[in-house]
Amino acid sequence: MSNPSTVQLAPAAAIILAAGRSTRMRSLLPKPLHPVCGLPMTSHVIRACRAAGVERVVVVIGHEAQQVRGGLDEDVEYALQHEPRGTADAVRAAMPLLANWSGTVLTLAGDTPLIRPETLRGLMHLRQQSSAAMTMLTMHLEAPTGYGRIVRETTGELLAIVEEKDATPEQRTLTECNPSVYAFEASVLRSALELIDCNNAQKEYYLTDTVGILREQGAQVETMLVQDAREVLGVNTRVELAQATNLMRLRLLEKWMLAGVTIIDPASTYVDVDVEIGQDSIVEPGTFLLNGTRTGYGCILGPHSRIERSTLGDGVEVAASWVSDSVLEEGVRVGPFARMRLGSRISTGARVGNFVEIKNTTLGQGTQAMHLSYLGDSEVGARTNIGAGVITCNYDGFSKHRTVVGEDVFVGSHSTLIAPVALGNGAFVAAGSPVTEDVPENALAIARERVVIKPDWAAQYRARKKQPQTAETRS
Ligand code: UD1
Ligand code: CA
Repeated sequence: MSNPSTVQLAPAAAIILAAGRSTRMRSLLPKPLHPVCGLPMTSHVIRACRAAGVERVVVVIGHEAQQVRGGLDEDVEYALQHEPRGTADAVRAAMPLLANWSGTVLTLAGDTPLIRPETLRGLMHLRQQSSAAMTMLTMHLEAPTGYGRIVRETTGELLAIVEEKDATPEQRTLTECNPSVYAFEASVLRSALELIDCNNAQKEYYLTDTVGILREQGAQVETMLVQDAREVLGVNTRVELAQATNLMRLRLLEKWMLAGVTIIDPASTYVDVDVEIGQDSIVEPGTFLLNGTRTGYGCILGPHSRIERSTLGDGVEVAASWVSDSVLEEGVRVGPFARMRLGSRISTGARVGNFVEIKNTTLGQGTQAMHLSYLGDSEVGARTNIGAGVITCNYDGFSKHRTVVGEDVFVGSHSTLIAPVALGNGAFVAAGSPVTEDVPENALAIARERVVIKPDWAAQYRARKKQPQTAETRS
């Protein structure tokens, strides 16, 4: 058989079913929107279809249709199934959109997020090559509970798919199951749909009945065994959601490892779908790289860090810190125990140390804020030193105000910069000063009480305390 990944396939449309009530999830969030590695589970299915070269994708929605459509936010066509009356009824709802379609129609469930594009191509290729009316995937499961079973003649010839609820005890022992992924010739699907009724245990229109109908008509139906059944794991409960998420996570990690990223402990590393990690980066245990994160070459991320919607240059180090919606330029080192958020930008070679929070703030090149600071709504120039415990007081209880600090400034420890306030280039703030006024270039700002020294006071105090207490001194 020629290689399905390179062969030219006939134009295909896909129908993805996502209109069910998904009661087994026990959730107010519709099942298609439950995220798997940062992407709604049905979006994974849509992307697999696109990657397989499918031209038109129709998603059937019904239960919480508007929410599902908005949440998926994908460039696809939507069909509405008014009542969830079964998988065949859902496919019927999509057919008017494909009334003039004459190629292949793939149908698959929106709750099978691990399906691979290569598998879909293989299934379409098999149909084309064998001229079958329909091809379908099958899988072997040791514990097939919940899945439709593949019923065959003793000769091995395919007969039908029987849903678990309709199966005889004997049929329930069958281990070949239906993952719900089919490729039809469009006209075959149209005519089969007309013959499906709802005479079954669930009083639903089953898409699985197409197999029996086509076999009775003597049409050719071919099966393709999925080697690794985990690829077509159906998510019906939160238990399966966790299983699917774990498999997708390991798949993504494997992709990054093969692309030259060191993952110290895949078991404790979480990477979303929409993430780019630069080559020769090292991801330490307990680290989350979430959607919208891009890193450069040779970064060290973690241990125990969470980075989202952020861009990191080459050689950035983030230890035990949270970074969101920020840019860390080349060579920046962050943490341990720092937090950067809401549009912060840390310029090349700057350092942010332990227990420092930075919000909507720019730090210039080579600037350091190493200990226990809060910098909010500020702009700090290059080569400036922010001492331990420096706080920008950016909020007056009603609105936020900006702090502007120039280049080569020294802000002494435990100073408070009461915004709006500006410190000119080269200014110097004495430790412990609340700064309420702008400081000109190269000036000193000092705002604190002079220390009073009382010689020998401490020794006298201790001596006084040691004397035996009388009734009078006790009272
Ligand atoms: C279905 C198959 C079963 C297969 C299993 C694989 C049928 C009758 N059964 O069972 O053979 O082993 O998938 O995962 O097809 N949906 C609608 N409208 C409806 C009903 C369902 O859009 O009226 C959608 C659901 O949202 C879901 C998909 O179709 O995305 C499958 O429905 P589900 O109820 O999960 O079917 P299973 O019981 O898993
Ligand atoms: Ca299912």
